[in-house]
Amino acid sequence: MRTGPPIRRLADWDAGELQSLVDEHGSPLYVIDLDRVAENAARIQDAFPTAEVHYAAKANAGRAVLERLAAEDIGVECASAGEVVRALEAGFAGEHVLYTAVNPPATDLDAVVSLAEDHPGLTITAGARDTVNRLDERGYSGRLAIRVHPGIGAGHGDAVATGGDASFGISAAEVPAVLEGAEARGFDVVGVHAHTGSGLSNEDNEAHRAVVETLADVVEATNVSLEFVDVGGGFGVPYHPDEPPIDLDPIAEATRNALSHLDVDLAVEPGRYVVADAGVLVTAVNTVKRAGEDHVFAGVDAGMTTLLRPALYDSYHHVRNLASDASERGDTTVTVVGPVCESTDVLAEDRRLPEPIRGDSFAIGNTGAYGIEMANQYTTRPRPAVVALENGAARVVRRREEFSDVTAMEDV
Ligand code: LLP
Repeated sequence: MRTGPPIRRLADWDAGELQSLVDEHGSPLYVIDLDRVAENAARIQDAFPTAEVHYAAKANAGRAVLERLAAEDIGVECASAGEVVRALEAGFAGEHVLYTAVNPPATDLDAVVSLAEDHPGLTITAGARDTVNRLDERGYSGRLAIRVHPGIGAGHGDAVATGGDASFGISAAEVPAVLEGAEARGFDVVGVHAHTGSGLSNEDNEAHRAVVETLADVVEATNVSLEFVDVGGGFGVPYHPDEPPIDLDPIAEATRNALSHLDVDLAVEPGRYVVADAGVLVTAVNTVKRAGEDHVFAGVDAGMTTLLRPALYDSYHHVRNLASDASERGDTTVTVVGPVCESTDVLAEDRRLPEPIRGDSFAIGNTGAYGIEMANQYTTRPRPAVVALENGAARVVRRREEFSDVTAMEDV
């Protein structure tokens, strides 16, 4: 089926295939299954059949991912000018590109305004009056949406419950006047937008509904005739193996109900949902250190520079030992640590896993979203390669960095 199962668990990946990929391409290695990316996108399209789906590129802006999604005929939401450039280069048509300007640097506005001259269908979402003014100062009079601060947030943690954070968007009560003012100044005012937060679960449907109702109230309160209401992204994925997948249908229904009395199109901006379970990170165990009778530290060659989420958000990512004899070994409590001399460099804490042996490979699940994209070069650690799976074949879509890539910009 084109849409595939609602979740691909870490256990569903073929251990032998992952092991042979690291044998060939080295470790650590990100693997991204583009066919699964397309299935996930199709499931969103099925749940929101009338909506324009814009993939939030910040989750994974790799060229191969963007090209595949552009070919699947969905749109893209960009968080920076750089993402807009990458999206256009990957083949998204301008009218399928949304740029969400969050306290945008001048260079971002300059670049996007100039790109919009060649791609007049592009839409810019402004989250502050100042941003509208700055676009006006640059002579931009193209498609404009306004980001609403709904005052309600939810998500996998405070750091990503952006709907409740007043630094994003203009308060709902002020937006109708902002829309009218922008139209009077000659902008092509086309929509309103809000993002409840990231990593929403089934329990967050009420918050989502309240945010959509807030958007509906704004549409009703303004004289500007709007084309679309963009309810953001945030659809979560189960990171724990016993967690159920999010049920999109009630969310879609709540969204439809909240907007049913309005003549506007719906837009959604999922990032994580599209790519998270399409990716794994494979990393090699290089140091095994016994810390107690039933506790070992497994030092691996990936760390907080490779996968930042555990250090930054205390995020859980499931870990699996790929060794062919793993099930025959006894389990022990394993803490998986990286190569950076910081106490936050812990990828997984106190997991019951088969007794690790130096040379084992660990697969770390659900790392297709915000994995390679948040990787960095701290401690002069080159970023890993990315291998894409598509139509039964594997190819390197991002080569492994070398030391010289880390220093390439230095000129002393
Ligand atoms: N639209 C807007 C305006 C956003 O700010 C975001 C995410 C999305 C869409 C996509 O959200 P998603 O569907 O991926 O949840 N680095 C964090 C996530 C930060 C998300 C920020 N905004 C993490 O690793 O969990």
